[in-house]
This record gives sequence, structure tokens and C-alpha cells, in this order.
Amino acid sequence: MIKISSLYFFIQVFCLATSAQIKTQMLRIESLTNPVGLDIKQPRFSWQLVSSKRNTLQTAYEIIVEDNSKHKVWATGKIVSGQSIQVDYKGNALKSNQRYEWRVRIWDNYGNTSAWSNPAFWQTGFFDTAEWKAKWIQAGYSGDSVGQPCPLFRKQFDLNKKIKSATAYVTAHGLYEAKINGNRVGDAYLTPGWTSYNKRLQYQAYDVTALLKKGLNTIGATLGSGWYRGRLASGKNKNLYGRDISLLLQLEITFTDGTSTTITTDESWKSTRSNILTSEIYDGETIDASNEKNGWASPGYNDAAWDNVKVATFGYSNLTASCNEPVKKQESYHPVKVIITPKGEHVLDFGQNLVGWIQVKLHGKKGDSIRIYHAEVLDKAGNFYTANLRSAKATATYILNGDAEEIFEPHFTFFGFRYIKIEGSKTALQPTDFTAIVLHSNLQQTGHFTTSDTLINQLQHNIFWSQRGNFVDIPSDCPQRDERLGWVGDAQVFSRTAAFNMGVNNFFSKWMKDLAADQREDGAVPVVVPNILRRSNTFAASGWGDVSTIIPWDMYLVYADKKILETQYPSMKAWVEYIRNHSNNDLWDNGFHFGDWLFYRPDDDYDGTAAITNKFLIAQCFYAHSTQLLINTARVLDKPADVASYTALLQRIKKAFLDEYTTANGELVSATQTAYVLALNYDMLPEVLRARTAKRLALNIENYDFHLTTGFLGTPYICNVLSRFGYSNIAYKLLFQNTAPSWLYPVKMGATTIWERWDGQKPDSTFQTVGMNSFNHYAYGAVGDWMYRVVAGLDTYEDGPGYKHIKIQPHIGEGLTRVTADLQTNYGKLSNQWKIENGYLLMDVEIPVNTTATLYIPAKEWKQVTESNTPIDAVKDITVKGKKDDYIIVEMGSGNYYFRVAQ
Ligand code: BGC
Repeated sequence: MIKISSLYFFIQVFCLATSAQIKTQMLRIESLTNPVGLDIKQPRFSWQLVSSKRNTLQTAYEIIVEDNSKHKVWATGKIVSGQSIQVDYKGNALKSNQRYEWRVRIWDNYGNTSAWSNPAFWQTGFFDTAEWKAKWIQAGYSGDSVGQPCPLFRKQFDLNKKIKSATAYVTAHGLYEAKINGNRVGDAYLTPGWTSYNKRLQYQAYDVTALLKKGLNTIGATLGSGWYRGRLASGKNKNLYGRDISLLLQLEITFTDGTSTTITTDESWKSTRSNILTSEIYDGETIDASNEKNGWASPGYNDAAWDNVKVATFGYSNLTASCNEPVKKQESYHPVKVIITPKGEHVLDFGQNLVGWIQVKLHGKKGDSIRIYHAEVLDKAGNFYTANLRSAKATATYILNGDAEEIFEPHFTFFGFRYIKIEGSKTALQPTDFTAIVLHSNLQQTGHFTTSDTLINQLQHNIFWSQRGNFVDIPSDCPQRDERLGWVGDAQVFSRTAAFNMGVNNFFSKWMKDLAADQREDGAVPVVVPNILRRSNTFAASGWGDVSTIIPWDMYLVYADKKILETQYPSMKAWVEYIRNHSNNDLWDNGFHFGDWLFYRPDDDYDGTAAITNKFLIAQCFYAHSTQLLINTARVLDKPADVASYTALLQRIKKAFLDEYTTANGELVSATQTAYVLALNYDMLPEVLRARTAKRLALNIENYDFHLTTGFLGTPYICNVLSRFGYSNIAYKLLFQNTAPSWLYPVKMGATTIWERWDGQKPDSTFQTVGMNSFNHYAYGAVGDWMYRVVAGLDTYEDGPGYKHIKIQPHIGEGLTRVTADLQTNYGKLSNQWKIENGYLLMDVEIPVNTTATLYIPAKEWKQVTESNTPIDAVKDITVKGKKDDYIIVEMGSGNYYFRVAQ
């Protein structure tokens, strides 16, 4: 007879054995790992499944959520559902400033049950602005304004009990850096980030338990002008959100005996000028170390000479918890080269055009100073070149205290640079004393794309680095000159590419809220978000304003984020209604438009006044596209009346397009690459006209000897359109073109990021006009979407968004013998590698658990194809569905598959 204890042991081992077949990982709330300070009442839960067994699907899940006191606030029981991402919380009402722990277990289609996951947690922020007890404070001394020293704030307090937990809630007008007992609070930079401050100001929450102690404590903060009141855009625009900079801080402390206390900014704080003498986003920072107030953020510092603070009454109604990944330091680099230029300048080359700042170790006498200038490129003669920064001074100035070694870095600015020029040093400089630190929104890298061709790999590298450099809390056009604004057209064209390279769901959700906040009452969308231009002619340009429909839809496709559609729906609809109200007989034939911005032409003509593509033709295409996306969204959100009325509108828009922009025989009146691309991409033409229009596009490209003539609006989709209509060979020719205008021309010229213009630096090394010549502008990098989605073939079906139903259809093209792409989807890793080897096409595919895939294998006959050396019709895990256009179509579920196609 088996003893009870060994029976128990046996059962346990048996359970472990079955549950080992399936497990969960990557538990996330709102796409974040263990976030602190969420003010979302119904956060969404996601997890991934891991199983080595092919075709594994989740059939049920169970979630348990417990509060601080281990009380269950949500116990779902077993829910029969395949949903493993974006699962809405439906438990008891959550409380503010509380930590919740959660676990999940799942059942799969093979009858396995996973073990309970390790617990994950999230902490809530304030659900009600009435929970703000802190008062807004400002420097008490007079004269605080842009260009003046950054103010410091401090308060000392006594905690007479043992601390269990403590959370600091912080925000500012301007930028803040908080300290507790001399230690920096958190590792986020440029906080509270950039939003439409007057309407939405984000606060951050930090777990500061480890920074506090029983006894005397000190909390302090430094403020910078930042985007709030610093100079923005060209000209002298400053104080755009207000003249003040102000701090709001609330520290919630719980003691081990269960009691709690709150420390807040109020009239008891003190203020003084810091050693940051000036600080601005465009111009840089000046720090005087001889003026350092040593120990100012620690207990015991004598602040008798400091001023009392002023209390301001800004209220709390615009406050909202941060919902995106903050800017953080990423990796760092030492210079790769020391250069003395022909002009005799001391220059260091970091080998990569990057965004961030320099951390420098200095030695010298008190009062010595050093200036660090930043530049993206050297000129034809090899001298330091900053003319393209326009009025941005982009300079860091450090005044030494005379200590043995002093380490400097800025606080409230950033630079776009590859080279720095150093002036003023009296001692020999060691290149290793200069470290370039990369800063950007702390987004997870989700995609990789590599090929057999080093130039194409460099192109992907450049796209990725332009994304990194321009995703500094908002999607900016460029990171270096006196601009760095959230230009909506640039973001729109790049958003799908961005969502391959990095996890951008929260990044764009946050920014879209600012878009809606800054949208005009009549639905007009500003051309930059946050909108600091605020002139009547800086609204409603076609291809720019359409960001309001395009990005929410992209986020839905890529992340199955239905909430962004719900949140943005009024904004999307208002935009389409704006266009409708400004149309004549369904034609959007008026208003200001940038057109196919920066399309290629030999002389200078920024906004395309002499553009070959008719601007209103472009506008009509985007009118149709936005309307189509609104219809799609209305369908997802189950709004049949809107689906019907906008479908009728769309038909009229397309008819108006045909009447106005095609000849009686169906030829487009604007015979440009961009006109063809937009008309085809947005299905503006009836089926019968499409093939011949695509042929004209192909001929046009051939006539330009396989060069692009497209600008910001035509470029993103040109290769997609070519592939869709069977001209992938031409798309590949464009991709491999290496004379301007083309993607590889800048690569051949040594670019390490994407340039704003096709020929920013000409073959003779002279530059394009300085007014508009950024070397870090991601818009033309939108070809990345075609590289991932068409060349490698990683796509999602609309009816299974978020890669629940995956489509893999690679396009093999001349010039590449291998392509490898992977994407960390919400379900897990999706990848495809194709290569041509010894007369075979090999395709290695990985499909994440809990998804299904339709795979298009480039082969004429299924008999040519094996999977793991077995003829595909004999592989039980996959289903051969048929054949279409030189592809064999198969369906399968999760797992790794190895296909081989005899050529
Ligand atoms: C920006 C662009 C932007 C454009 C408007 C420029 O100054 O750098 O990227 O889209 O203005 O056309």
C-alpha cells in the first residue's frame, strides 16, 4: 500500500510534470512591468505563454489580484478564453496609492495547466485630483526667469518610526530632478516629460522606501525651464506655457506600525539659486561648480541664507499619472577618434550620430572653464559644422571648482551630435574622459532586421538610431536644431516602422492624448503636438492631420489596443468631419498643405510650391484614407450607424477623386511617383485601373533610372505599392540604388542616421541649404515597414490584430541571399529567416504560443517544399491551404518550423 505522504509526493511530481509543458512569463500591466503610479481604474493585463509543443493555444485563464493586506480584490476563477493580452481588470474598485499583486495560470488545448506564475505587481497613483495635498511652490527670491539660474528647493523633516513603504509623487512646471538625502530620486530624465501642459500635466511616482530612514531626512529638487518656458521653435518664443517654473511634490509614507504621514511642498520649503547658471533645451547648460551648495539635499545643511518659497495656486485639474516609459540613460560611448581640424579645432568623434549628452571628467583650477559644442557633421574641409543647428547654441559650459577630479553632465537639455568641439581647456584632455550618454524614452527594442548585405544593414541601423534619437518623450522631427517638435506628419509616416523596432504602444497613446487635447474645436489637428506654434495656419495640413486616424489604427493593428481606438474615436471623427466641412462637393480642394514635403528636385523649394504632385490630389487621398480608418474603427467599436454613413461618404470621396484627378480614360492627371503611390495605396482607383497605374509607376521609376523623386508622403509606401502590384523587383532596385535620391546614398556617404533630405550632403561633400538640413530625421526611414513587413514578411491580419493571427509572406529579391527579422509581439517572439543556399530556399519560422499563422512559402508546387525534411503534406502540424501567385499557402500554430524549397 502506498503511504499517504508518498502518494502526495507522487501527485505533486505528476502535477509538476504536466504543468512543466506550459508556463507563463512576461506578466505586464498596460504593457509595463511592475509599474508604479498608474491612475487607470481598469488596467489591462497581459502575459505570454511558453511551450515547446507546436500549435499550443490557451483555452482558459485564472487571475488573482491581492491588495497590500493580501485580501483578494479580484479572483476570476477559471475563465474559458483564449485571451492572453489586454485583459481588462474587472475586480473590486481599486484604491489610490496602493500596491496590488497579481498572478495568473492558464490551461492549454492539450489539457495542460500551468503553475501559478510568479507574482507581479503594480501600484496605483491618485484616482482623484482631490488627493493632492501638496501646494505648488516657486523660488522665493525675485528674478527667476528664463536664462536665470535653475532654482533649488529643500525641506528637512523628521520621521520617528520605522518606514514600511514610501512613494514620492512629483511633477513640475518646467523640468525637475528630485533628491532625497543626497540621492537622486529614480533614474528618469527630463521629467515630467512633454505634454500639452495646460491641459495635461503628467506626474511621476517613485518608490523611495530605500532612500528614507528613521530620523532626520531631507528632500530637495532642482527645476529647469525645459519645454515649459524655455525658448522653443525658431525665433524668440519663450514662456509658452507660463513664465513660472514650479514644483509639486507629495511624499506618502507608511510606517511599519500601520500609521502613515505625508510630506508635501508648501510654504515651509526653502529655495535658492543653484549652480546651474543657465539651462535650455536648444542652447544647452552652464554649470558653475565653484558655486555648488554641497550637501544641500541632505539633513544638517544650513539653509538659513535660503529664501522662503512662494506658493502658487495652479490647482490640480490638469494632473494625470505618467502612462509612458520615461526618458532614461541608455548606453554610453567613448570617442573613436581625436581630430584637430584644418581650423585647429579640438574635436572628438563618437562614430555615431546620437542624442543625449557628454559626461566629462575634468581637472583644473577654480574658475577655469571649458565649453563643449555639439555637431552632427564635419564640413567638406573637415571643420566642425553647426550652421544646420540654426539658432540652437547646443553648448555645455562648465566652470571648475578646482577639485582633483570633477565630473560634469547637464540636467535639463539634450543634444543631437556625433562630434564635439572642446574649447577653453587649460590641461591636456584625455579622450576617455569624455563619455557620450544616449538618452531616450525607455522603450523596449522589439525588432531586429538583418540581411546578407552590409549597406542594407547599415540602413536599418540608421533607421533605428533616428528613432532612438527622436523618441525623447515625444516623436520629434529632429533632435539637434532649434526645432525638435512633435511634427505630426513625420510621426504618422514612421509609426508602423517604429512599432517594429520598439514597443511604442504607451509612447504613442500618451502623445495621441495630447493631440486630442490640442485639436481645435472644429476638429483641425495642429501640425505639431504638443502645439506650441498656435497660429491659425499651423493646423489641418493633409498627410499631417491624418496622424489622428493613422496612429490609433496602427496601434490597434500592432498591439490589439482597442482602448486607444475608444479614447481617440472622437478625435478621429472630428478630423474627418473637419475635412468634410472644408470640402466642396466632397473634394478637399482648399486650405494650406505641405504637400509631398522635401520631394527631390535639384534646386531648393521646401514646401513644394513647384511640386510636381498636386497638393489637393494628395489631400483627397488622405481624406479617403482617414475616412477608411474611421470606418474600420467604427466597425471594431461596433458603431453600425457610423460605419454606414462614412462608407457612403467614402464612396463619394473616391468618386470626386476620379472626376477631378483622372482623365476620361482613367489616367491620373499628376504623373508623379507620389501621385501613383497614394492613389494605389489608398485604393482611390477602381480595380480595372489599378494594374495599369501600377505599371505607370514602375515606368516612371525606370525613367528616373530607378531613383526616388518622392518626399515625406510618397516615400513611405512606394515599395509597399510596388510589391502589392507585383513589382518587388523594382522595389528592390530602389532599395539598392546608391546614388541620390535613394536610401543608400546617405549610407554610402557615411551616414549613421537617416537624413532629412535625400542629398543633405552632396557627392562633393558640400551641404544642402542650412535652413532645413538635419542629419537625424526619421521620416524617410519609413521604408523600414516594407523591410520588416514585406521583405521579411512579418505581418498581422486585421481580424487577428496584435499578431494573434499572423501573416508571413516574404518577398525574395535580387541582391539579398539572406534576411532575418524578428519581432517581440505581445504574445512572444515572432521570427522569419529566409536564405538561399545550395539551390534551396530555406525558411526558418518561429510562431509565438497562443497565435496562429498563415504562411506564404515562395514555391510553385507544394511538392518542392519540405518541413524539417518531411514533405509538407505529411507534416501533421501544418495544413496546406492552396496556392496563389507563386506562393504555397500553409496554416499552422505556434512553434519552430524549418522549410526547404527546392529551386
Ligand atoms: C520639420 C519637418 C516637418 C516640416 C513641416 C520641418 O521644419 O523638420 O520634418 O514635417 O517642417 O513640413
